[in-house]
Amino acid sequence: MTNAAVIGAQWGDEGKGKIVDMIADSYDMIVRYQGGNNAGHTIVVGDKTYKFHLIPSGMIKGKSCVLGNGCVIDPDVLLQEIDNLGDLFNPNRFFISERAHVILEKHKVRDAQTQQKIGTTGRGIGPAYADKIAREGTTIKQAIAENKGWNNLQRYITNVHQLIHNALQQKKSILYEGAQGTMLDVDHGTYPFVTSSNATIGGVFTGTGVYTDIPRRIGVVKAYTTRVGEGPFPTEQKNETGDYLQQQGKEVGTTTGRKRRCGWLDIPQVQYACRVNGFNELALTKIDVLTGIGKIKIATGYRCEEKSIDYFPTTDILSTVQPDYIELDAWAEDISRCKAYGQLPKAARAYVQKVEELLGVPIKIISVGPERGQTIVR
Ligand code: IMP
Ligand code: MG
Repeated sequence: MTNAAVIGAQWGDEGKGKIVDMIADSYDMIVRYQGGNNAGHTIVVGDKTYKFHLIPSGMIKGKSCVLGNGCVIDPDVLLQEIDNLGDLFNPNRFFISERAHVILEKHKVRDAQTQQKIGTTGRGIGPAYADKIAREGTTIKQAIAENKGWNNLQRYITNVHQLIHNALQQKKSILYEGAQGTMLDVDHGTYPFVTSSNATIGGVFTGTGVYTDIPRRIGVVKAYTTRVGEGPFPTEQKNETGDYLQQQGKEVGTTTGRKRRCGWLDIPQVQYACRVNGFNELALTKIDVLTGIGKIKIATGYRCEEKSIDYFPTTDILSTVQPDYIELDAWAEDISRCKAYGQLPKAARAYVQKVEELLGVPIKIISVGPERGQTIVR
C-alpha cells in the first residue's frame, strides 16, 4: 500500500495537476478532500489542454475519482464540467460524498459583496463553508432532493467514508489531491487572505473521514513564487523581474484570468509548508521559466525590525518582514527538452541542489515545461 498526497507548498498554482497526472498510474483512486471550483488544474497532453476545476485530474487517466466531504460543490459547474469532458468522463468511476456541501446562488452573491478585500475567486466558496460551519448549510444529498435540475448527479452520491475504507481493505492505493496551497489554508496560511478550507495534510483526514497512512507526501514547489488575490507576499517583485516571471511563466489564473503576482522563491515560507505537511519528497516545477533571467535570487531568511527571526510569523508581521537573499547564476540554455538530471546545465543543477539543501527535503521530480513528457525524475 503506497498512499500519497500531493499538496501545494505555496499559494496554489504550483503545478499540482501535472504532478497528479504524472503519477496517477501508480494509484487506484484519486481523492479531492477540500476546496471547490476556485481551483484550476491545467494538464497538457500533446496538442490538447484540459482544464479542471472540480473533477480530480486523474479522470483523464481512467482512475476512480472522488470528491470528499470536505469539498464544496457548485452543482451547475459540476454538470458543465462533466459535459465538457465528454468521452473522457467515466460515470462509473466518479463519486461524490453525500456529506459534501453545495454552493448556492446566495453564496455567490455574498462572495461578490466581500470579494475585493480578500481577492477571492468569487465562486461562493467562503460563504458556502461559512454556512456549513454555522450549521445552516445544504448538503449535496439535500440539494439534489430539492432541485430537479440536479437529479443527474444522484448516481454519483456515495458514502465516501465506506468507499475509501473498502478500497483500503482491498489494499488499493489512494492518491489525495490537494487544491490551493499551504499558504491559503484557513488555519495555517496568511489569514484572512486565505481560502476557507484546510488545504494542508490535516484536511485529508477531516475531508474524507478515513484515517490513512500516507507514506508518500509530495510537496509541489514552483521554482519562484506566485499568488493571486490580496495578502502579504515577502518576496514579491513589483518590477521587471516580476513582469519577466509573469510573462515567461504565463502566470494568469486558470479560474479567474487574473494576472498572478510574482516573486522569488521563499525558503522560510516553503520550509514552513514542509513542516506543516510533513513533506518527504518535493516536486520542483517550472524551473524552465528561470532560463535566461541572469541572476536568480532565493530568500533564505526573514528579518523583522533588523533582527533575524526563526519562526514563520502571522500575517501582521509577515507583511513587514525583509527577506535576506542569496544570488545564483541562471543558465541561458533551453532546458525544456532535458529528460534526465544530468542533461541540465550546471547552473540549473546548482539551483536544484541549493534549494534541496536549504529545505532539507529531496527534490525527486523536476518539471521543465507544461507537457507530460517535460519532467525529470531523479
Ligand atoms: P476563494 O477560495 O475564492 O475564497 O479565494 C480566497 C483566496 O484564495 C484568494 O486570494 C484566491 O485568489 C485564492 N485562491 C483560491 N483558489 C485558488 C487556486 O486554486 N489557486 C490560487 N489561488 C487560489
Ligand atoms: Mg490553479
